[in-house]
Order: sequence, then C-alpha cells, then structure tokens
Amino acid sequence: MDSGLMEIPASVFAHINNNLAIVMSDIVTEVVEDNFMKTFKALKRKSPPADLESVINVDDSKWTSMGKVKQIHPQTVTSTEHEGMIPSSEWSMYELTSVPGAILIRNPFRDKLRKYMIARCYSMYPRLPNVTNHIDSKMSYEDVWQDFCSDAPSDMSIDYIKKLRWVTLGYHYDWTKKIYVKENKSEFPQDLSQLTQFIVHAVLGEEIKFKAEASIVNYYHADSTLSGHTDHSEFDLTAPLISISFGRTCVFMIGGQSKAQVPEALFLRDGDVFIMSRNARMSYHAVPRILPNDSSYLNYTPAFPGDVHTSNIPTDRENCHLKRTYDEKATPCKRIKLESEKFSSDLISSLEDADSWSPFRRLLSGGRLNINVRQVFEPGKGPEDYIWPEKDNYIAI
Ligand code: OGA
Ligand code: MN
Repeated sequence: MDSGLMEIPASVFAHINNNLAIVMSDIVTEVVEDNFMKTFKALKRKSPPADLESVINVDDSKWTSMGKVKQIHPQTVTSTEHEGMIPSSEWSMYELTSVPGAILIRNPFRDKLRKYMIARCYSMYPRLPNVTNHIDSKMSYEDVWQDFCSDAPSDMSIDYIKKLRWVTLGYHYDWTKKIYVKENKSEFPQDLSQLTQFIVHAVLGEEIKFKAEASIVNYYHADSTLSGHTDHSEFDLTAPLISISFGRTCVFMIGGQSKAQVPEALFLRDGDVFIMSRNARMSYHAVPRILPNDSSYLNYTPAFPGDVHTSNIPTDRENCHLKRTYDEKATPCKRIKLESEKFSSDLISSLEDADSWSPFRRLLSGGRLNINVRQVFEPGKGPEDYIWPEKDNYIAI
C-alpha cells in the first residue's frame, strides 16, 4: 500500500461507527435533558425512601392493561427441552412496549437447576483462571470457599467473600480500558453456554446462532447499585445480551440509546431472565436499588422454594406461578441433560442436602447475583478476524 493508508476491514469499520454513534450520543445527551439519570436518582433515594409505585411488576396484570408490557410467546416451539427448566412453551414472557426487544422471562428454573447455577456462581466461577475483582495471593478461592463452608469459618474467608464483586468468564473484560483483550481469556463454562444458547433459541428462534463468549457475574450486596451504561465493547453489537438474576429482587431500569429517553423500571426477581435484543441491545440500563428481604417472607409460600418475597411487590397474582403443573415424564421431546462434563452431577446431588445448601442460602438472602452473558464476535467469526482495540472508543486520537 504505497498510499501509506492501512486498509480497514468492513467489520472494524462497523465497530468504529457504532462506537462513534455512542460517543456522539453521549455528547448530545450532555446538552439535552438526562432523563435516565433523573429516574436513576429518584429510584436510588434512601431518605425519604424512593417511591416504587411506577416500577413495573409483570405479575400484576394492571401493567399489561396499561399497555406498559405485553405478554409474548416463544418464537418457535423448541424440539428440545432443558432439564431443570419448565418447558419453554409454559414460560411467562413479557416485552416492554417502550423498549422493543427488552424481554423478561419470569423464573423459568426448577429448583434443582436454580440451586446448581447459584452454587456455580459462589463456589466455582471465582476460581482461577477466571478473573475476579479481589485476589489475595495468600489464599486460593478453593481454600477460601472450603473454609467458608466449615463450621467455624475464619474472618479471612468471610472477608474475602464479602469483597467479591464480579467475576469474568471467557473473554475477560478490562474495566479500565473498557475492552476485551485477545490474549486474556479462559474457557467459557459449558453449562452456562448451553443454558444461554437454549434460552436464545427458545425465545428468539432456533435459527439464531448465539454463542456465549464472555460473561460478567455480578455479586450485589444490599446497598449495591449499578449506574447507567450501555454494553458496547463486543465486536458484534447485534447478538442479544442474556442476564440471569438470583436472590433479592432488584429495580432494573432500561431506556433508549440516548439518556434523553425516559426509561422504564421493572422488578427483576429470583430466577428471572432478561434479554436485551434488537433495539434494546444498545439501550442504557442500570440497577438503582436492591430490595430488602422482609419478615412477611415467613408467611409466604414461594412459587419455587427459595423465591424471595418483598413487601414492595403486590402479591395478588403471586399464585399464578403455582398453577403451572410440571410433569417431567409428560414432555414428549428430547431433553438436554444435566450431566456429563457440562453439568456436574456431583454438585447437583450434593445441593439436595440442607447443610450443603446452607452457605449459598445465607449469601443469597443478603444479596443478588446477576450473570450477564455476551457474544463477542459476529456469527462464524473468531478472534483472528478482527483488529483488536487498544483502548475504548479507539477513534479518540
Ligand atoms: C451488566 C449489567 C445488569 C443486572 O453487568 O452489564 O447490566 O441486572 N447487569 O445486574
Ligand atoms: Mn450491562
């Protein structure tokens, strides 16, 4: 190339354009009203406590009648079911009217798989070679976890687990530079990959080639918040984001691609899956609040054991979840088994024992887990097909 110019592949161009659009929208929203931030601050407020009247609870039909959400059904009746989940044809799914492509699936997990995923997040995913926010060279996470589960856990292991805020899986995210780094990756867990691929196929259609390539597992505490952002570091900005929540209910906000759009807020509860697809893929979103567990929990029969109940959510339609009948044998289709190297059957059976489950139950009653799964590359492409950025928004010279 004697012109001295480097040829830029079309995919990189598309990525630059997307980032440019994001930078531009940030600049524009600085001068127009930041409605996203306004709502975030209002919902986050502790004193006087935030008014949660405007937060959508999909279990209450009033939000459907008001046109805020619409009930949707799977794109395809999948030929396969996933063991540990209720059949996808029975999932309760809602799409936000003002944010097309933002889809909430109310807890589709049976208790066995729910417990298994929670156990993986607390006991396995934080181990090397995965990357976490807190590393102490004196103790491996295996040792920390073993000690934490003993009859008399040391202050050191309690403190360690308290400090855990995030774990990254697959391609690890560099939080400072806001990029993925080509060499910085570990094997993506097969269980999570299989689970999220199944969810995408069931909800958006089996023709969608979703591949889990990066994940951030967030460990929220009672007072944690996550401020407004878009997830725009992936090379493919069209593949859906899959977000799975366990533990305490949170208030989740989602708006448009500019902070000027007035966002919606909704409750995400134990076991809920949230999908950001199509238009919603690049929407601003945030978690302004984690709700407390409260004593009415004791008088409440959860739809699924361990389902967290809070007084902030009307309970009148709570029972609709109980009406589902689950007859594993009646489903005449192929099942994805929780076995082999994908799902550790030893872990699954050990969780049936109350003592083994107890440390997870304790941790979860005080906080919230969010597993956020992304596809990094465009379908059919891999790491060699891209020029990797050295810092975020690499148009900034
Ligand atoms: C994220 C994220 C949302 C949640 O990790 O990028 O948006 O519900 N999490 O915790
Ligand atoms: Mn996000």
